[in-house]
Amino acid sequence: MIIAIDGPAASGKGTLGRRLAGHYGLRHLDTGLIYRAVAKAVLDAGEPLDDVACAGRAARSLDPSRFDEQVLKSHPVGEAASVVSAIPEVRAALIDFQRGFGRTPPGAVLDGRDIGTVIFPDADIKIFVTAAPEARARRRTLELQAAGVSVNEEEVLADILRRDQRDSGRAAAPLKRAPDAHLLDTTQLDIDAAFRAAIDIVEAVRAGRQRG
Ligand code: DC
Repeated sequence: MIIAIDGPAASGKGTLGRRLAGHYGLRHLDTGLIYRAVAKAVLDAGEPLDDVACAGRAARSLDPSRFDEQVLKSHPVGEAASVVSAIPEVRAALIDFQRGFGRTPPGAVLDGRDIGTVIFPDADIKIFVTAAPEARARRRTLELQAAGVSVNEEEVLADILRRDQRDSGRAAAPLKRAPDAHLLDTTQLDIDAAFRAAIDIVEAVRAGRQRG
């Protein structure tokens, strides 16, 4: 089974993906991490983020076994990832890895921006997770504060809006809901309620398939 989860920054898709994978005994890939790793490699090389040759080389030589999640999850790396991920050569170099990951038994939950539209258009189940930008900014602010980072919620909101615009407005595989993706709006839901709603979606799709 392949479950594709897409959605904007701080929508809760990563946590949902991890929990769904645990629940169904599937592997989980947070595809944002691979774009973050490319961005980090370009930053480390001291090259500009729109250097197509450097970013393409980084994407082709990626080694996920060496990812340092804590470093990759930092705010500047996320911003940089939003820039390098708009480069078509970078996206093309990462397709096979994502598809190979998903097709390896017993299947996987992948979360990102283009999983249901480009990477697995034939995924068994597609969920598009979203939430109002203000709710996402609130959550991200609390998360960062809990990690000891002092942040201003208005600045976090401005970052989120900028990132939404960049991820949705780019020409290469923009963030958008696949026509057959189930919408899960988590604005009013905490993570447990969102998880139950996601399970309901998966179960409804599976039940429908068994009947059909
Ligand atoms: O989900 P995230 O915040 O870790 O993603 C970081 C950036 O990577 C995001 O702004 C856009 C990009 N990204 C992408 O273009 N495609 C994906 N499948 C996942 C992430």
